[in-house]
Amino acid sequence: MEMLQEYRYKLAQFWRSSIVFRSLSLLTIFAISALLIVLPARSQPVVLTFLMNAPEVPNLRPLIAEFEKQNPGIKLNMIEGPNASNLIEDLNTSAFLLGSAPYDLVNMDVTWVAKFAAAGWLRDLTNEIPQEQLNEFLPGDIEASRYQGKLYRVPWRTDAALLFYRKDLLDQAGLQPPETFDQLIKASQQIQGKNGAQWGYVYQGRQYEGVAAMFIEVLEGNGGFWVNPQTNEVGLDRPEAIQALNFLRTTVDKGVTPAGVSTYQEEEARLLFQSGNTVFMRNWPYAWALLNKEDSPVRGKVAVKPVIHAPGKLSVSCLGGWGWGIASTTQHPVEARKALDFFTGTHVQKTTSLSSGYLPSRKALYKDPEILAKYDFFPVALKALENPGIRPPIAQYAQASDILQRYLSSAISGRISPEEAMKSAARETRALLGV
Ligand code: GLC
Repeated sequence: MEMLQEYRYKLAQFWRSSIVFRSLSLLTIFAISALLIVLPARSQPVVLTFLMNAPEVPNLRPLIAEFEKQNPGIKLNMIEGPNASNLIEDLNTSAFLLGSAPYDLVNMDVTWVAKFAAAGWLRDLTNEIPQEQLNEFLPGDIEASRYQGKLYRVPWRTDAALLFYRKDLLDQAGLQPPETFDQLIKASQQIQGKNGAQWGYVYQGRQYEGVAAMFIEVLEGNGGFWVNPQTNEVGLDRPEAIQALNFLRTTVDKGVTPAGVSTYQEEEARLLFQSGNTVFMRNWPYAWALLNKEDSPVRGKVAVKPVIHAPGKLSVSCLGGWGWGIASTTQHPVEARKALDFFTGTHVQKTTSLSSGYLPSRKALYKDPEILAKYDFFPVALKALENPGIRPPIAQYAQASDILQRYLSSAISGRISPEEAMKSAARETRALLGV
């Protein structure tokens, strides 16, 4: 006890007499407290949350693990959403409308840019990404990522619809692949009923974003237009538009297309075509890898070409594709930018291209020998985008598309005539745009 008192007394004396001891002790206490505050905070990684289309989730997991390994301070919280573009858009939209969106990043379909940017939900990336870096991407994808001249999205894949056809069945019938709508109907009818070909043509006819994407090809490939984004002029009730929808209805009326097409998204069409009983299919390039899987009944029997059009008109392939934006409300813009750079970078684009057959949006990957060895049709797809069908880049796109989807689906399933459908769609679209 006495010893302890003596020790405390000596320490107090030393404290009073030595300024060095005093300073060192204070410094040590300060350093320890700082560490105690900073260490736990540092060991808490920043979490970035985003929604992802369900089919992409399994392929992305290993890439996310790679990113987290390279960036120990960041965790990526990928929330699995539905597949259809418009359904994920709805989820993002309600989150942003409610005000406290949990999302830091947005994986955006090309059609969302105008609406999300106009609503102020996205960070303006114009001055954050130098032009030299943007030059590495397909110019059409970058253009489609701007709204009113400002950049809000960086693409990580493009999309171009194609006509998939059964080379073997056409060869057996001594037919060339069709260029026009009529040729496709005739070729289908000639082949149907033989060699297991029950159906001629499948496409996306369900009431969702995919039907609008498909229809713009038939519409513009017939010389028509949907909405002129500069003037808001609506072309849906013009004769070319009515004829375009007539073609789709005819495919069902003539039994070339199953009536069930009015419930088909991309995957339903792909599964039917893959089962081996259909001659033609309109779909996106992702279908190629699946059609050629080892256990696929049509493996090695499928070829692709640009989509069909009216005689004397050009083939128009819908410009699709996805890219990353950063939520304007994120608390972590620096980390979000790192994730955006990773997802849109060469490594991720090449990996997802090889695993899923997605078209990259980085130009150099179209010269990559590994990619070309696996997908020798990529140059055809890229060429199809030289004359793209661009869904109107207007802030009201989601509503305009909803109107069109509703009337297309009514006419394809035979509930109303193509003319009635297009007239009503035009009227509602004009009311929406106030023209
Ligand atoms: C694909 C396209 C996208 C389009 C969607 C329609 O995902 O990339 O742009 O909106 O299909 O289903």
